[in-house]
Amino acid sequence: MSRLLIRGMVLPMTGPEDFYADGEIAIDGGRILSVGPRGSIPEGFVPERVLDYPNDVVMPGLINTHTHAAMTLLRSYADDLPLMPWLEDKVWPFEAKLTDEDIYWGTALALAEMIRSGTTTMLDMYASMDQVAEAVLSAGTRAVLSRGMIGYAPNGKQALQENIELWKTYHQAGDGRVRVMFGPHAPYTCPAEFLQEVKLEADKLGAGIHIHVAETLDEIKIIQERYGCTPVQWLNDIGLFGGHVVAAHAVHLTEEDREILAKQHVCVAHNPESNMKLNSGTAPIPELIARGVAVGLGTDGASSNNNLDLFGEMRTAAFQQKLRVNSSALPAYEVLKLATVGGAQVLGWEDLGMLAPGFKADLITINFDQPHFYPRFSIPAHLVYAAHAGDVRTVMVDGKLLMEERRLLTLDEKKVCAEAEMRAKRISSELG
Ligand code: NI
Repeated sequence: MSRLLIRGMVLPMTGPEDFYADGEIAIDGGRILSVGPRGSIPEGFVPERVLDYPNDVVMPGLINTHTHAAMTLLRSYADDLPLMPWLEDKVWPFEAKLTDEDIYWGTALALAEMIRSGTTTMLDMYASMDQVAEAVLSAGTRAVLSRGMIGYAPNGKQALQENIELWKTYHQAGDGRVRVMFGPHAPYTCPAEFLQEVKLEADKLGAGIHIHVAETLDEIKIIQERYGCTPVQWLNDIGLFGGHVVAAHAVHLTEEDREILAKQHVCVAHNPESNMKLNSGTAPIPELIARGVAVGLGTDGASSNNNLDLFGEMRTAAFQQKLRVNSSALPAYEVLKLATVGGAQVLGWEDLGMLAPGFKADLITINFDQPHFYPRFSIPAHLVYAAHAGDVRTVMVDGKLLMEERRLLTLDEKKVCAEAEMRAKRISSELG
């Protein structure tokens, strides 16, 4: 399908005042041709199909700026534990048993959940990333992929080589739907020389870097003891910043850290639910936004969330800042921006995150003809405070439908769930 017309209540995310109660969007060849009130389509445009959703809000597809998709296989395998026992006794032994195929199906499960909850793009960090890329290509979603690398681990160098290979094989694959970044895990798991090597290789390819930064107080303590400064200051000192860097979490930040992030144009992936579940802390998001830092939303992996629903994440992001700062902090439209335009900025993806002429036709429709969306005082407030994953009706990426009337079109949902169940149970029984 190359020429489509979508009608509905259009929230293009191009500005807080922009909204078409009876709007239409013309799509041609995977890109948006026009957005406006009914009757605004260019003369001579003949759609092959019209999708008429008078009671749906049509908005950009949501962007998840930090996740570990295949960790869906660990969903609810271990909960309610302190961070280190959770990782050392549960997560790492389970992950050590994952095969390439397990990672493929775990990712497929994540993508099925993402599509069903309106997420069209993710920034992922994991292992066996060629499997993740294949799952993304067949699901039809958009993704930025990074190979997670632990510099202190015996396979650190090999992981770096795999990240380089991933870039060579999959960067711009699927008509440009897949992009590749480098994924050194965190300041406390990678020595300076390793991070500098990663930066050198990333720069050679013109690729960005995706790294966990200042996530927990334990990390702050470790880096303070090792180097006598904060993680942000250390990464700045060793030269990791300056290019395109996505810092996941950024919870514990000094004034100087915030200054560095803003000055070096470091982007932040905010993961409020993971930060709450693992008792990591609350990131100073309004302060970062005020300094001009690009901020997006992330779910983190399903074992620390435990879902990949960005509608839930938006609500939590808003409520968390209201509790921390005051009830006016992070208003609804700002939160929607984090999940759309902000996410696109974080990923450095210029033609994504808004419904505007020339932008990628990645969009979702939300069924507003339901009790929890009446009365219709504020569409942005409804989307952030009242909506949930199950309200998403139709999902499109690159002008191609991935879900219609809540039916997945690119994934065999039954098979994906059965494979994930079988594989996760196999591993847990192996572990006893
Ligand atoms: Ni993470």
